Amino acid sequence: MSNILTSSIGKKLMMSLAGLFLVIFLIVHLAINLSLIIADTHEPFNKAAHFMGTNIVIKVMEIILFGGFLLHMFYGVFLQIQNWMARPKRYRKENYSQTSFFSKFMIHTAAIITVFLVIHLLDFYLKAKLFGEVPMAIYDGREYHDLGTLVINKFKIGSVVIFYIVCFMILAFHLLHGFQSAFQSLGLEHKKYTPVIRALGVIYTVFVTAGFMLIPVYIYFWM
Ligand code: HEM
Repeated sequence: MSNILTSSIGKKLMMSLAGLFLVIFLIVHLAINLSLIIADTHEPFNKAAHFMGTNIVIKVMEIILFGGFLLHMFYGVFLQIQNWMARPKRYRKENYSQTSFFSKFMIHTAAIITVFLVIHLLDFYLKAKLFGEVPMAIYDGREYHDLGTLVINKFKIGSVVIFYIVCFMILAFHLLHGFQSAFQSLGLEHKKYTPVIRALGVIYTVFVTAGFMLIPVYIYFWM
């Protein structure tokens, strides 16, 4: 029996499953972040971030999340290298004509998203977990990290807002192909369903990236 982790199909499958898990993470992350600009106070955002940072089930999910990121990256790089090495020069042109514009740049957009993630984690996550440079807030007699103030202070800087918006655009490029490609790798190729999955991918990408973009823009101009 060929090994699920090492066969070519197995690698694509693992990358797709990890990718779809990240698709769900982005919706949850967006919903929590939007509460910062919707609510009158930072309280719902800070409490949600606190819950996400302390709840045992979420902590286990977080380990799975980081594992998912690493798995997705590892298999992505591996498959790309395999692809470059295996593709004979004479087929290069025909293969390109069959691939969509966005699919050609998956490895490049992935590299930029990885750099974004490192900067993003340094900006917020690692500050809250390791550096302890976060202001505190008290709700109902309990102390919470005031991550809301941290986010707002960051997005009052124009260059940070531009950096985040550009990264979200690149994330959109990655998701546009990634979403439907994940379903394809899971074997969901069908005359009837493939156009539906493609449309869902576009709706998801527009909704998620527009939602993320709204946050720094709204904070910069109106908070
Ligand atoms: C305006 C948009 C965003 C804001 C305001 C934001 C804010 C935050 C904050 C405050 C944290 C720390 C939470 C904590 O320590 O409990 C965090 C963590 C994180 N963010 Fe973001 N984020 C944004 C967009 C994104 C995007 C687009 C991605 C992925 C491509 C992402 C990936 C992550 C990851 C992986 C973590 C660590 C895991 C976690 O705490 O849930 N974020 N973000």
